[in-house]
Amino acid sequence: MSATHSLGLPRLHLRRTDSTNHRAREMAVRGAPHGTLVTASEQSAGRGRQGRTWSTPPGQALLCSLVIRDPSRLLSLAAGIAVAEVVSPRARLKWPNDVLVDGRKVAGILVEGRPQERWAVLGIGLNVALRVEDLPPETRARAGSLGLGAEAVEPILERLLHHLERWTVADVDSVLDQVRRRDALLGERIRWLGGQGVADGVDRAGRLVVLSGGHRLLLEAGEVHFA
Ligand code: BTN
Repeated sequence: MSATHSLGLPRLHLRRTDSTNHRAREMAVRGAPHGTLVTASEQSAGRGRQGRTWSTPPGQALLCSLVIRDPSRLLSLAAGIAVAEVVSPRARLKWPNDVLVDGRKVAGILVEGRPQERWAVLGIGLNVALRVEDLPPETRARAGSLGLGAEAVEPILERLLHHLERWTVADVDSVLDQVRRRDALLGERIRWLGGQGVADGVDRAGRLVVLSGGHRLLLEAGEVHFA
C-alpha cells in the first residue's frame, strides 16, 4: 500500500474467512482506525444486501471491507462511483449501489455500521476474474465479470483505494452529479415491492426519486427492478 493512502492501512489479509465485513465490524468495535482494510481470497459466508449471501470462487474476486469513521450519508453511492471509475467508462450505477457493465452486475457494495458510534464498514465485492458459469445458479443470470486474470485483483484494489480516497470525502453535489451521469435507472420504468413508476434520479439524502401516477415518491432503501 502506498504511504499516501489513508485508506488501506492497517491491512489484514485472510486466505479464507466467513465475511470480510464481519471481520472489519469486529475490528471497528474494538477501535480500529479509519481506513483499516480487511481482504480475503475466499469467504465462507459472504454477506450481500437484503440478507442475501455473496459467493465467489476462491481468488477470483476482490473481496474487501474498510472501516470508515465519520462516514458521509452518501457513502454507498460514493463507493459506487469509485468502483465504476475503476471498472470501465461504460460502468453504470443501479441504485442503491450495484455496479453494472452491459446490464450485468460486476460489483456489489454493502455498508453496515453504527451511526450512533459514527463508523461504518464499507464492503465491496468486485468480480475481477471469475467466470459467470462458476457462480451459484441464482446469481448467474444477472452477474458479470471483468474477465481479467486473478493477478489483476491486487492492482485493482490499489486503484480502487485511490478512487475511494477521493469519493468518500467528496461533497454532496459532486457525488450526485457523478451518480446522475452513470445512473442506469434514470428515465427507466421500474418496479419494487409495492409499486412501479419511472426513476428520476437520486436526492440529496441518497433516496431514489420515482415519478408514479402524478406523484413524486422517495424510496429510502430496498430493491428495485427494471419493469
Ligand atoms: C450486494 O448484495 O450487492 C452487496 C454485496 C457485497 C459483497 C461484499 S464481498 C466483501 C464484503 N464482505 C461481505 O461479506 N460482503 C461484502
